[in-house]
Amino acid sequence: MPIRFDGTQSVFTLQAGSMCYLIKLLEDGRLCHLYYGADLGDVPSVDYLLRACGTGYSVDGEQSPSIMPMEYPSFGTGDLRESCLIARNHLGQYCADLRFQSYEILPGKPMPTGLPALFADGDDCETLVLLCEDSALGLEAKLFYSVLRGHNAVARRVEFRYTGELPVTLTRAFSGCLELPDDGYELLTFHGAWARERTLHRAALNPGRQGIFSHSGGSGHVHNPLMVLQRSGGGEDFGQCYAANLVYSGNFAATVEVSHMGTARVVMGVDSDTCSFPMTKGETLVLPELVLFYAEGGLGDLTRGIHDLYREHLVRKSPFAKRPVLINNWEATYFDFDQQKLEGIIKEAAHAGMDLFVLDDGWFGHRDDDGSSLGDWFVNTRKLPNGLQGLSASASSYGMKLGLWVEPESISEDSELYRAHPDWCIHIPGRERTRSRRQLLADITRPEVRDAIYTQIKSVLESAPVCYVKWDMNRPVTEPGGVGAGRQERFAFDYILALYEMMERLHKDFPEILLEGCSAGGARFDPGMLYYCPQIWASDNTDASARLDIQLGTAFAYPVCTIGSHVSMVPNHQTGREIPMETRFAVALCGTFGYELDPGRLSQKELEQLPEQIAFFNRYESLIAQGDYYRFYSPANQGDDCCFGFIAKDKRQGLVVFVQRCRQANVLPKVVRLTGFAPKTRYQERFTGGIYTGAALCHAGFPLGAFHNDFESRILVFDALES
Ligand code: DGJ
Repeated sequence: MPIRFDGTQSVFTLQAGSMCYLIKLLEDGRLCHLYYGADLGDVPSVDYLLRACGTGYSVDGEQSPSIMPMEYPSFGTGDLRESCLIARNHLGQYCADLRFQSYEILPGKPMPTGLPALFADGDDCETLVLLCEDSALGLEAKLFYSVLRGHNAVARRVEFRYTGELPVTLTRAFSGCLELPDDGYELLTFHGAWARERTLHRAALNPGRQGIFSHSGGSGHVHNPLMVLQRSGGGEDFGQCYAANLVYSGNFAATVEVSHMGTARVVMGVDSDTCSFPMTKGETLVLPELVLFYAEGGLGDLTRGIHDLYREHLVRKSPFAKRPVLINNWEATYFDFDQQKLEGIIKEAAHAGMDLFVLDDGWFGHRDDDGSSLGDWFVNTRKLPNGLQGLSASASSYGMKLGLWVEPESISEDSELYRAHPDWCIHIPGRERTRSRRQLLADITRPEVRDAIYTQIKSVLESAPVCYVKWDMNRPVTEPGGVGAGRQERFAFDYILALYEMMERLHKDFPEILLEGCSAGGARFDPGMLYYCPQIWASDNTDASARLDIQLGTAFAYPVCTIGSHVSMVPNHQTGREIPMETRFAVALCGTFGYELDPGRLSQKELEQLPEQIAFFNRYESLIAQGDYYRFYSPANQGDDCCFGFIAKDKRQGLVVFVQRCRQANVLPKVVRLTGFAPKTRYQERFTGGIYTGAALCHAGFPLGAFHNDFESRILVFDALES
């Protein structure tokens, strides 16, 4: 996994897994991107990849900035494509030009102060630090590149230090870019809305710019900070793919630009429409990490590679040996509950074998609807006369643990906190305060505000043995400013830094608590959040059919063991659809797995299925959480059938879920091709007893047979037979 510098060729080589990444240092100090892709072995001279030449009616020289592939492009000296850096000096002039000064190769990975990032120790990782400078501006930049043993990833980020006298503003300071020598790719992005998060979208690359962004204050419902480029004509099992994924939970921007020369450049970072960085003498700016990933073997290979990377180096270990099967009362009761009602749910849940009861919104202040009490983090004793202690004692008497919902970033006007501190919300003096879900946001960029809120929550968590916290956030940031924030231009960034600080504090004070992320469903499902929250609620849409798409899109980069998924009641509260219990279970199984219902309102038949389902999940939890995830597509799939599964790393076991969404008339029995099993191993399918080789499953497929109903599903389990 070496990083080395070849002084003869002036090339830095970063190698890990089966990839290499090459950076060329030009004589004039510019850092150019030479190559990222399959490992080239002992790197021959590949300077020709720069394709240096003078171009017609553009910037002069044989190495014209107009065309060179750059490591960290900046605006102002002739590179007219998308930039990573746009700097404005005190006169209002826009120009930056970073030139190489020195380099270091470090064992391990220095973590960015105050920001989440992939973690790794010295044995697993090496980091290249390139120090660059724009001496006219007085701006230093350190470019960090880390490679991790066994992974085809390059984690890159940048830190700036300003040494000039007069103020300068970085109107754009992105985390990095990915230069590709041609545009023969399809772009995959993950877009949506509330209840339709992370729906996969494909588009051909076009000349010019295609982009995604968030202006909501969080990474958002609308786009995810993930771009995938797949070689045109490639598929699930073949073809080169790249991914760029920002480890950040706030406003971001990502653009892919096909240049006038037919090359492609991806840039990504903190959104520059809504945030810029004023720099004063001696100031340092640490920016989020950008994870680049390369895969040779198609989209499936890409997904599995990123899952492995994130499971090992991003998602911290859950304090639970096994993820708890939880029951959440939100869809069961909404705000309308009391101790007795909750005890009814707990009793049935415990009887079925669940581990954890999560008390959702409505337990604090005098909150009976979404119009009040955010900021008043003390128990509503009308609903819970014996406090959380009483509820947890009751849960514990049934052998269940207690989890709790909080929304620390929000504040209701009808709250004691707001009445005492009406200026503690995010607002711009002189402007109307925009409400969303009838609430405002607390200005957590002010230390006294986040401290007051955190202290309240801390004492609640100390009042009872709470072992799980669901951290929600239910509105966009508007009027992004506050009396307490020193520099309003970077308010959007400071907000996220403050949020990370609060989460870090929670981890330090309560290491035994499992933190679940949530934001109006799945509006903040990103690598930044995954660093703090080993699981994130994927969507408020619990309809199993909608969830097939949401979970498929989410699992493109994010490990299945992080995707919050629950079985809920029918008719479904978001779509009104009635999907059979078996299929609701099969879909929820492919995630953290839990329930979001009142077991007392299930039919007797459904109720009787619960213990079996929970036992099944417990049995296969580690296969689902740690196995390799496969999306199975087959020419035999009809309509929009869905099929995916998990194969153990040692190939001894596999679990497959198939869902037919819509029954079609007059079709052949279904056969699905299952890739990923060991070709020569014989497997027995547990429910049918059928025996197949891995090669047969892959090439001939598995006979699913005839399906008679909409939303009919099958779960298959394959065990390797001793040979
Ligand atoms: C939005 C979340 O996504 C839901 O699960 C629930 O916690 C509500 N907020 C509570 O207000």
